Amino acid sequence: MDITGLNKKELTELIQNPPVDLGVEAVRVKTEHYGNRVFARGLIEFTNYCKNNCLYCGIRLGNKNAVRYRLSKEEIIKCCERGNELGFSTFVLQGGEDTKYTADDICDIVFSIKNLYPDKAITLSIGEKSREEYKMYKSAGADRYLLRHETADDVHYNRLHPKNMKLSDRKKCLYTLKELGYQTGAGFMVGSPYQTSAELAEDLLFLKELQPEMVGIGPFIPHCDTPFGEFSGGGIENTLTMLSLTRLMLPKALLPATTALATLDSENGRKRGFMAGANVVMPNLTPKIQRENYSLYNNKASSGNEDAAEIEHLREEISSIGGVLDMSRGDHCSFN
Ligand code: 5AD
Repeated sequence: MDITGLNKKELTELIQNPPVDLGVEAVRVKTEHYGNRVFARGLIEFTNYCKNNCLYCGIRLGNKNAVRYRLSKEEIIKCCERGNELGFSTFVLQGGEDTKYTADDICDIVFSIKNLYPDKAITLSIGEKSREEYKMYKSAGADRYLLRHETADDVHYNRLHPKNMKLSDRKKCLYTLKELGYQTGAGFMVGSPYQTSAELAEDLLFLKELQPEMVGIGPFIPHCDTPFGEFSGGGIENTLTMLSLTRLMLPKALLPATTALATLDSENGRKRGFMAGANVVMPNLTPKIQRENYSLYNNKASSGNEDAAEIEHLREEISSIGGVLDMSRGDHCSFN
């Protein structure tokens, strides 16, 4: 099933009436490029300070109830050491847009991890920065960068974000990251307030244009201390449909079964993500005490993933659906 030539109207219809075998088709396409492997990345949520005020997000500047924390370089390295013991070959350093860390601080952190583990891949996910900063991080050793576009529709973007944030800036950052040679991740929420199927179709068309190596897709989940606290959340079915369609749009992409998906269905959310075409999982290596404060939305899944037993559990979960947990770097197949 080739959807790469469909126009916005056709994609909209597909989103509204997905074929019953969409997930099967998505898994087939994924298997052609990555076999049955599911790649693990160790996630380190190193700061929940943020200068932005995105209306959906629990760690927005305006949320005075958020309990803020940031990890020191030494604490971050401890997380990596633990991750190394558990067998991870790649770390994702994610945080709010925390102005306390200068570009030099970030470079120092990346460089120190790379120095300790030259063969491991490092992903940054710290928001919109200048081209120069992105370049500095790359020189320090960063391999990949995640920056969700959130929604590819201008009007919708403006309803989710304060006036000082622009979709054009976000897109410009993504193109810069691609140009600089990062394996680049875009992504969006499904079921965010005011979203329509036509806007989700635009997300697919934007992905086709950008050709990111990774795409993070998860349901919107309301957070009570945000302006969107009273909205209903995104559904699991729609999220799985968008995962599968993204797989068909970008057959070689690395697509995580996200924490937000696992939050909606704690029993089977991740598995259903893999069965819809996802091939990445990001266990959390953030120290337990801080973890619950990285509260992007309510009831965020927060199992003790840094535990070896949890990794075994994940391994079993993946093998129960015919997959195999892969702890290698898991680069995009065009980067090998
Ligand atoms: N529900 C779901 N996802 C959210 N994110 C932020 N707030 C929410 C929410 N309320 C997502 C955004 C962001 C990523 C780190 O988490 O897409 O890019």
